Amino acid sequence: MNYNCQPLVLFLLLTLVTLVLSGVPKPEESKRVFDHDFAQHMGDEQHSKQYDHEQFLGEDQAKTFDQLAPEESRRRLGVIVDKIDTNKDGFVDLGELKAWIQFTQRRYIQDDVERQWRSHNPDNNDTIHWDTYRKNVYGFMDEMDPVDLEKEDNGFSYKAMLTRDRRRWSVADRDGDDALTRTEFTDFLHPEESEYMRDVVVAETVEDIDKDNDGKISVEEYIGDMYRGTDDNEEPEWVKHERETFKTFRDKDNDGFLNNEEVRDWIIPHDFDHAEAESKHLIYEADSDSDEKLTKEEILEKYDVFVGSQATDFGEALVRHDEF
Ligand SMILES: *[C@@H]1O[C@H](CO)[C@@H](O)[C@H](O)[C@H]1NC(C)=O
Repeated sequence: MNYNCQPLVLFLLLTLVTLVLSGVPKPEESKRVFDHDFAQHMGDEQHSKQYDHEQFLGEDQAKTFDQLAPEESRRRLGVIVDKIDTNKDGFVDLGELKAWIQFTQRRYIQDDVERQWRSHNPDNNDTIHWDTYRKNVYGFMDEMDPVDLEKEDNGFSYKAMLTRDRRRWSVADRDGDDALTRTEFTDFLHPEESEYMRDVVVAETVEDIDKDNDGKISVEEYIGDMYRGTDDNEEPEWVKHERETFKTFRDKDNDGFLNNEEVRDWIIPHDFDHAEAESKHLIYEADSDSDEKLTKEEILEKYDVFVGSQATDFGEALVRHDEF
């Protein structure tokens, strides 16, 4: 996807920043909201797997599991399976899995907001002011050479992140006092959860994909965001299929481009239940006897579908090592 090209460079950069300024949260490489939808069936297997793990465990737990040896990862998965099977009939069914995924997602967001609220607002004031947030997260930029600030590394630049955060902050700030309450701060950190934040989420997505900055997405930009083919290779089937989808389905007014409204329909479709779709996907992946529910054995057999471990994600574990 867009930003994942040079994790080592990014890691070193963040480490450097960490050494300069310790104790406050640093801007992390920002993930696109709804990024996962793009990866689902697009041949990006590593990305899809990571997404499955984050849905099943929550993002922070998924990182923890990535550090574990396979045996320990399986053992903990077994403990989780017993929790998911709430009616204790020995099977994990669609309803139970869906409830579990909703629970882990809620828990992750609550924990994340709590962690960031406390770190930016140690006095537990009613609000966090933008100036405080900006200083904590981007204050190091004031010391940097302006020339370095202009440099982009694969689309990743602190300046662009600051601009994006500023706009998102202003949208989340419903009462316009430039300070966010905990509820507003939750919208800021997790705009994907909030109807109120939809427009800014769409705008961010369009900007990410719209390489020529004309405010709309061409079919080449749409494909280019999912697939980086080399010229000598023929495009895989799924890419051809996506071109067709763009033409017949996404580009509703047939002008050859996706506007904000069309992007909105694409990334935030009506009546789409993420937890249910993900539960069906996980059951499909592990349901060896096709009875549409999973035994503990079926889940443990396919443990890499549900959770990571060092064996499958060793590279990423190295990059993330400083977080633990
Ligand atoms: C919390 O509020 C107090 C009193 O207004 C203020 O002095 C302090 O700087 C605030 N803390 C933060 C982190 O903004």
